[in-house]
Amino acid sequence: MLEIHLDDSDIDRELRADVTTGLTAAGKWLPPKWFYDARGSELFEQITRLPEYYPTRTERSILASHALEFARITEAKTLIELGSGSSEKTRILLDALLQRGTLGSFVPLDVSDAALEEAVAGLAVDYPGLTVRGVVGDMTRHLHHIPDGDNRVVAFLGGTIGNLAPAERAAFLGNLRGVLHEGEWLLLGTDLVKDPAVVVPAYDDAAGVTAEFNRNVLRVINRRLAADFDVDAFAHVALWNAEQEWIEMRLRATTAQHVQVRELGLTVDFAAGEEMRTEISAKFRQAGLAAELSQAGFALRHWWTDPDGLFGVSLAQAVATS
Ligand code: AVJ
Repeated sequence: MLEIHLDDSDIDRELRADVTTGLTAAGKWLPPKWFYDARGSELFEQITRLPEYYPTRTERSILASHALEFARITEAKTLIELGSGSSEKTRILLDALLQRGTLGSFVPLDVSDAALEEAVAGLAVDYPGLTVRGVVGDMTRHLHHIPDGDNRVVAFLGGTIGNLAPAERAAFLGNLRGVLHEGEWLLLGTDLVKDPAVVVPAYDDAAGVTAEFNRNVLRVINRRLAADFDVDAFAHVALWNAEQEWIEMRLRATTAQHVQVRELGLTVDFAAGEEMRTEISAKFRQAGLAAELSQAGFALRHWWTDPDGLFGVSLAQAVATS
């Protein structure tokens, strides 16, 4: 059983607005959320298994090391997961909270009804005593649809908060604080600032999976908006922006391109060598993150990382705001 706050026509309208804005901007860009059709989600799953892509396995090991401590501290009755996808890492948290005996319900929220349907069905089989209520929605817009309760924990894992621009991040954290009661919790996964020689290959793997993932956004637009991007004419670019401390993925037109987006009545020209931004993936430092959380009305209570300091998991608590 899913609750739908985002139907196909909402998604379609949003795609049209995003593509129009992004492709007509002086510096072209596309938002990363359009990578994730069925093929894009499968490519992302492949990325998480690449030797170069350390975030997923590192976060999983941090969660495994601290799950019981997390359960003891929060004693959560409800776990809400934003951008839950397959909810695979979440099982570590569910197991710990069930062992602690406090958990009654799990609420995964995701934009993809297909991913959610599958995750909810699997969880229902494996956790028969748990109430699972899937919510189809966009975490930047539908936070007010998460069920009210007491002693809730919101988990936002994978480092996905890094795909939001700083101002979007502040707005998101503020909105989240607004739907929580004082004392409730946020469990947040963030990739950390490190040597670019480690982080860049994670976004530019030898097997070329990330390149295919990046180009997939063009396939999505071709299919959904009857566009004619020559996908192979765009090269994958991943670069470290040292000033902003984020990875930027771009697509570079290797030759001049004239593209029609028939559903939008739009034609778009790319000069040879022109680059279009498709994603930022911000990397964090503990102090900076604590400040951002504090600004939004959260106090950082626990900070967990791996022995190499690659990835951070924060446990923050909603506090009174003045
Ligand atoms: C969705 C945030 C986990 O930014 O690392 C992976 C997406 N992009 N490779 C990230 C992604 C390129 C990913 N997250």
